[in-house]
Amino acid sequence: MTRTSFPRQDIRVLLLEGVSQSAVDAFHDAGYSLIDRRDQSLAGEALVEAIGGAHLVGIRSRTQLDAEVLAHARKLIAIGCFCIGTNQVDLEAAQLAGIPVFNAPYSNTRSVAELVIGQTIMLMRGIPRRNAECHRGGWSKNAAGSHEVRGKTLGLVGYGHIGTQVGLMAEALGMQVLFHDIETKLALGNARATASLDELLARSDVVSLHVPETAGTRNLLDAAQIARMRPDAHLVNASRGTVVDVDALAEALRSGHLGGAAVDVFPVEPKGQDEEFTSPLRGLDNVLLTPHVGGSTLEAQDNIGVEVAAKLIRYSDNGSTLSAVNFPEVALPGHDGSRRILHIHRNVPGVLSRANEVFSGRGINIDGQYLRTDAKVGYVVIDVSASEQQAAELRAALADIPGTIRTRVLY
Ligand code: NAI
Repeated sequence: MTRTSFPRQDIRVLLLEGVSQSAVDAFHDAGYSLIDRRDQSLAGEALVEAIGGAHLVGIRSRTQLDAEVLAHARKLIAIGCFCIGTNQVDLEAAQLAGIPVFNAPYSNTRSVAELVIGQTIMLMRGIPRRNAECHRGGWSKNAAGSHEVRGKTLGLVGYGHIGTQVGLMAEALGMQVLFHDIETKLALGNARATASLDELLARSDVVSLHVPETAGTRNLLDAAQIARMRPDAHLVNASRGTVVDVDALAEALRSGHLGGAAVDVFPVEPKGQDEEFTSPLRGLDNVLLTPHVGGSTLEAQDNIGVEVAAKLIRYSDNGSTLSAVNFPEVALPGHDGSRRILHIHRNVPGVLSRANEVFSGRGINIDGQYLRTDAKVGYVVIDVSASEQQAAELRAALADIPGTIRTRVLY
């Protein structure tokens, strides 16, 4: 399957699931005008029909792009997941069809960090219990168990994108920040790394978790670790539900060992709005429960729209695959004055030397060449000084090389 390049105004963009207006604006600003934006997700025949004419497609988490659907997406050059997760796409099938997939892993970092700061203040003031009492007609007007956060210690487990943001904001509130990470991390502000997780747990007034879901973080906070936390300390979890043993946490909250907790993520979460949320943490007055909304703000949606649209536009205009989740990553400079030829192929011996023969055999000067491969696919980008006609011939010759998945020329 081969592709030639054509003007932006002929490139068809299909955006499903109410992808943010910021994405539509980004496409318009970049000169793309054929944008079909729909509020709903599509499935079955309707999806196959819509995707068949699209060059770029943007989805959120509900649209399933499986191998069968992708087989009908004969014009598609790239997929944008306007969300964090990408498991709604068959990434391998997309890769083998020469289609890079992009997402927005960090657009909602700030939203999570702000919620964690709010939760930290609420917990330190004992607000969850007071809120629950007031709803029942109670009026416990006293200062018992109520503290300023200024001068208190916040312990961050995982010091990545979110952990560092939380740390900086907490310092602005006068908190002392400790962190523990399995990687050596540059400490921002006055934050200090602890020698171990145990030390962090023993020294923190509030512990906040910001690790990914991995085999190594499963039940990272189990009964033994929770017991290491200071009496009356608080726990915040807006990372992943599997990181905490929730039964052990519920027990520590009931027994009074912990002062409170704010939990946004759960080992088992309802699949939709109609399913009941069940958890041993339900009904505990000292717990703030939220339905996995740490990253859910309108600002984050806007940021996701801008970020993913920018990645699709860059790939379409320039060929860069930086931060693609299923594809060899190539960051490319501009190609003013050159024709840029993209060649995506199966990573089998001999393809590259055949590709180079195409150029040397014609006496064409190569201005730049970029190559990345992974186990299955190779992506080579060649900038040449050639006429439009020559570029079209080169593309056709490259397309004939066995193992070629697709080719494109950028003018
Ligand atoms: P990140 O990848 O930037 O940072 C994670 C950090 O955890 C890294 O520095 C890593 O080295 C560290 N780490 C990994 N294993 C560890 C271990 N066993 N002990 C200590 N540190 C460990 O990730 P980011 O963006 O900061 O996200 C953190 C978490 O927040 C993820 O679980 C993510 O899924 C979750 N998240 C939750 C949202 C929500 O709506 N509640 C929204 C966005 C992210």
